[in-house]
Amino acid sequence: CGIVGYIGKRDVAPLLLEGLQRLEYRGYDSAGMAIHGKSGGLKTAKAKGRVRELESRLPKRFAGSVGIAHTRWATHGAPNDVNAHPHLDADGKVAVVHNGIIDNASDLRAKLVADGVEFVSDTDTEVLAHLIGRSQAETLEEKVRAALAVIDGTYGIAVLHADFPDRIVVARNGSPVVLGIGEKEMFVASDVAALISHTRQVVTLDDGEMATLKADDFRTYTTEGSRTSATPTTVEWEAESFDMGGHDTYMHKEISEQPDAVDRVLRGRIDDRFSTVHLGGLNLDAREARGVRRVKILGCGTSYHAGLIGAQLIEELARIPADAEPASEFRYRNPVVDPDTLYVAVSQSGETYDVLAAVQELKRKGARVLGVVNVVGSAIARETDGGVYVHAGPEVCVVSTKCFTNTVVAFALLALHLGRIRDLSVADGKRLIAGLRKLPGQIAEILEREPEIEKLAQEYAQARSMMFIGRVRGYPVALEASLKLKEISYIHAEAYPASELKHGPLALIEPALPTVAIVPDDDLLEKNRAALEEIKARSGPILAVAHREQEKADHTIVVPKNEVELDPILMGIPLQLLAYHTALALGRDIDKPRNLAKSVTVE
Ligand code: G6P
Repeated sequence: CGIVGYIGKRDVAPLLLEGLQRLEYRGYDSAGMAIHGKSGGLKTAKAKGRVRELESRLPKRFAGSVGIAHTRWATHGAPNDVNAHPHLDADGKVAVVHNGIIDNASDLRAKLVADGVEFVSDTDTEVLAHLIGRSQAETLEEKVRAALAVIDGTYGIAVLHADFPDRIVVARNGSPVVLGIGEKEMFVASDVAALISHTRQVVTLDDGEMATLKADDFRTYTTEGSRTSATPTTVEWEAESFDMGGHDTYMHKEISEQPDAVDRVLRGRIDDRFSTVHLGGLNLDAREARGVRRVKILGCGTSYHAGLIGAQLIEELARIPADAEPASEFRYRNPVVDPDTLYVAVSQSGETYDVLAAVQELKRKGARVLGVVNVVGSAIARETDGGVYVHAGPEVCVVSTKCFTNTVVAFALLALHLGRIRDLSVADGKRLIAGLRKLPGQIAEILEREPEIEKLAQEYAQARSMMFIGRVRGYPVALEASLKLKEISYIHAEAYPASELKHGPLALIEPALPTVAIVPDDDLLEKNRAALEEIKARSGPILAVAHREQEKADHTIVVPKNEVELDPILMGIPLQLLAYHTALALGRDIDKPRNLAKSVTVE
């Protein structure tokens, strides 16, 4: 979900619509806004569907210069006009937009109903609007504070009150809130994307922090009311990096940006003298690194898949037992937290709730947690003891491509760093550094094969289901390629270790089920070829991604060879394009696939 707000002199509705459009990738099943009308009182507009629906529904006279808006990804209640934010209190004096979930909403709702309050929506947020509206406190800040005091759950909120037209009050607990500081105007958003075209001076609120925004002033304080210091920082990302830059979709733009993105994650980090890498933010000295006995990587979705490759890299290069697990599973199974284990939280956004909650639980138990994160200053980046920024630049398409690649490269750097502190030789260090330097050029080479991949996609778009297989280093590549395909094309896809085919999935193989096989030239080449034969014997069509033509395959996408440890990074790239062109051939909404959101800041 996304929040945006503005207070200043300009006409607010177009500004809020622009902000919402930039946030649409955060959630998009309904949108709405509330403004202080010119002649007093609040005005609201809501619409099910995309931001353009809201735009077409705005009343003619909808002028003002203070307002808040929201784009929603439904959790409580179906996506419809009524459930769209902002939510109002009974008198229509309070308007609230909210990201997050109020856990005790049904109890509070029952109490309010018993007091005679009539609810118009099914949402947890409406509870908050009524609580603020019914508070007897004098100031808006106190009213909001009183309401927050009785709710349990997570929130990023922005509040307007008809009696306080000179301010917006915002608060954060678990859902991001960023203030944008302008010249005689202030912005608030759940994501810098919404405000970066207006100001690059931002203040990120901490959990438990609130702020009051006036046109020419802002102040921050805790939910208990004591002032906090907030010095604005400058966002490094360029406003243009949020634009489509001549591509038809963000996904295509982001796939194409990978050579530059990989160059960025490497920049300034390679140390040729000692054949190692410097990771300035790691906060783990050589002695501590030597004491690490296990590495446990936690992430969700695509970041979890990047973590699976990361775990293999760490085992191979540093010889430390390592594995990856979905953060969402880890935090619910009362895991054994071991002081000699290094925990690594992976997240593009740095806001995914399940990952953040896992980090907080680990920290509470005294564990050491590093972050591999893209968004600088995000919640996970701040909660962890140190880490590696992946420097992929902003990623807007809901499904992750360049961040996945950069995250894996960041793991290669971490593995090399740990390896060179432990038993990895100078010669191996040199070999891997040379391999890393080759990546941007090799990715560019693969991207040139797009026309060929596009043609293949036309064929595969007819499939109802697809199988992805790989072995050891190739297996996480298969998992990620299969996820990408299902996310944007809605074609059912499964990923299996090639070695497990004969233990079940072989039963599915038939002419109507194409298999995509990851076949690197490594020590498992012959084994992989045997799997291709098993499939061919059942007349299953095969698309191989390999370092040379595969005889048993109907098509082979040949990718350039790097070092065996780094090959998975390259083998995933053509499959991003395959998913992309398959979805395009099917006419899907690629940047905003149905039912998904870029960043899931709720449980
Ligand atoms: C959502 C997105 C996925 C993403 C996952 C983790 O489910 O749709 O594309 O991989 O969240 O996001 P993160 O920001 O933590 O990497």
